[in-house]
Amino acid sequence: MYRSHNNGELRATHINKEVTLAGWVQKSRDKGFMIWVDLRDRYGITQLIFDEERTPAEMMEKAKSLGREFVIQITGTVIERESKNNKIPTGAIEVLVNKLEILNTAILPPFTIEDETDGGEELRMKYRYLDIRRNPVKNSLMFRHKVAMEVRKYLSDQEFIEVETPYLIKSTPEGARDFVVPSRMNEGQFYALPQSPQTFKQLLMVGGMDKYFQIVKCFRDEDLRADRQPEFTQIDCEMAFVEQEDILNIFEGLTRHLLKEINGVEIEKFPRMLFDDAMRLYGNDKPDIRFGMEFGELNDVAQHKDFKVFNEAELVVGIAVPGGASYTRKEIDKLIDWVKRPQVGALGMVYVKCNDDGSFKSSVDKFYNQEDLAKWAEKTGAKPGDLICVLSGKTTKVRPQLSALRMEMAERLGLRDPKVFAPLWVIDFPLLELDEETGNYHAMHHPFTSPKPGQLELLDTNPGDVKANAYDLVLNGNEIGGGSIRIHDKAVQATMFKHLGFTEEEAKAQFGFLMDAFEYGAPPHGGLAFGLDRLVAILGGQETIRDFIAFPKNNSGRDVMIDAPAPIDDEQLNELSLKLNIQ
Ligand code: AMO
Repeated sequence: MYRSHNNGELRATHINKEVTLAGWVQKSRDKGFMIWVDLRDRYGITQLIFDEERTPAEMMEKAKSLGREFVIQITGTVIERESKNNKIPTGAIEVLVNKLEILNTAILPPFTIEDETDGGEELRMKYRYLDIRRNPVKNSLMFRHKVAMEVRKYLSDQEFIEVETPYLIKSTPEGARDFVVPSRMNEGQFYALPQSPQTFKQLLMVGGMDKYFQIVKCFRDEDLRADRQPEFTQIDCEMAFVEQEDILNIFEGLTRHLLKEINGVEIEKFPRMLFDDAMRLYGNDKPDIRFGMEFGELNDVAQHKDFKVFNEAELVVGIAVPGGASYTRKEIDKLIDWVKRPQVGALGMVYVKCNDDGSFKSSVDKFYNQEDLAKWAEKTGAKPGDLICVLSGKTTKVRPQLSALRMEMAERLGLRDPKVFAPLWVIDFPLLELDEETGNYHAMHHPFTSPKPGQLELLDTNPGDVKANAYDLVLNGNEIGGGSIRIHDKAVQATMFKHLGFTEEEAKAQFGFLMDAFEYGAPPHGGLAFGLDRLVAILGGQETIRDFIAFPKNNSGRDVMIDAPAPIDDEQLNELSLKLNIQ
């Protein structure tokens, strides 16, 4: 038996008990005649004590040799601690050691294994196993486990069945590039790793599974950000014989359950917002509604004066920044520089200070009088003391720019409190999205999403106007999940592929299996997938998903610990028939 107790377990009630413990040396304090060692494991820290009077000299020497992160096993007696430490649960006791075994030594770690470490991100990734010993990372992984367990419990109670789907498959388009895997046994052919189990879960519905879920890895070769990893985990779900309303209710229930069990927060009905309204009011399909600063469109009140910039713009739109009227000229100039950064991309910004006495002072006073500016204030909901920030230009450009400014100002004003949770369903997404560069339409969600009833005909004439029963769950300005009601009719699916630019042959080659299945009695079905990493991060009050993944990749998609990806040798290349293709 390696241990009788763990290091977070002993209390005053254990005094006089003989115990055996094992763990890592967090630190030791050597006073010469007395040595204290903090022994750490996943469960906590227990203080060990060696002293000249009660500890044999030889063991005293051994205790002096202990370095940080040595792995040891001790046996000793639990005694009352003279100076109690009420910051840790074991702080009332210490263990007077009578047997010490060094199970393994350790070289000096490249960064301190403390809550506040001196290690930079890249170094901690390289030695992730050491990083995992630190409380913040360990706690994040335990938090993730708790969320995943609650998800399984909830869905299983609702009669969802967890079914595993394959990883070596053919491309499932979700808008990213595929990671491909060469096949040794099928020369020149490749599997694709799933971007999601989308087609398989639909086939499970055809197979009569009725309610499916899976906590599953997905793989997408796309540009990485704080909320994106090349391999990530979905809570993937599908249901047969359902309408959008059923799906929203079940998964609202799941989210409410998690908020309650994990965060102790009770939220009544989640609000819903049309995609079009989200874009109009927040310039974004994942609005953070923890705070206001809604967009006010100003075309009516700002155009047809002498200000050419606005007259030529497709959209003139502003937000009222609370308290912003007190910004100095210098601060406002800095804000203008901020919106002009390439990451935001605005050409400039017009501003209006709403003075406390009800008057206005703007950067375009030459073109607009007080009466005009009062209308801007009305449209943006600005109050005395606020600063109205106005951007203009092409709608598809201006909206994301003002949205970025809105989020930045909220951050600066401390309006994005991670302890406040504001879930939101965004519904009625467009079926198709125009790619402005190529002029082609592609599926906004994925090609299996069904147009809203009666809108199929619109596909020929006004493809951009067709709406889908497609929905996203947004939490605190993050897209947590998305899904749709699917097409379950072969002819409709074929029409959809045609509109997405597939020839009949291409559609058959790529998705013939799905369309064939639709001929054997496919039930109406729909579903959604949550991003587990994102959900866990947000519930944990953070936005960087890396912190909640045991072994994440860096921003270039590399695992710096194992050093992957890496070249493979010629023999392996040959075996995979890849050598000849690489020039
Ligand atoms: P979608 O592509 O919207 O839908 O993905 C669902 C959710 O997965 C998360 N997510 C990611 N998380 C981390 N890193 C990534 N690279 C990443 N990409 C996506 C997001 C997102 O909301 N098959 C459909 C679902 C369906 O229709 O049922 C799908 O995959 O939180």
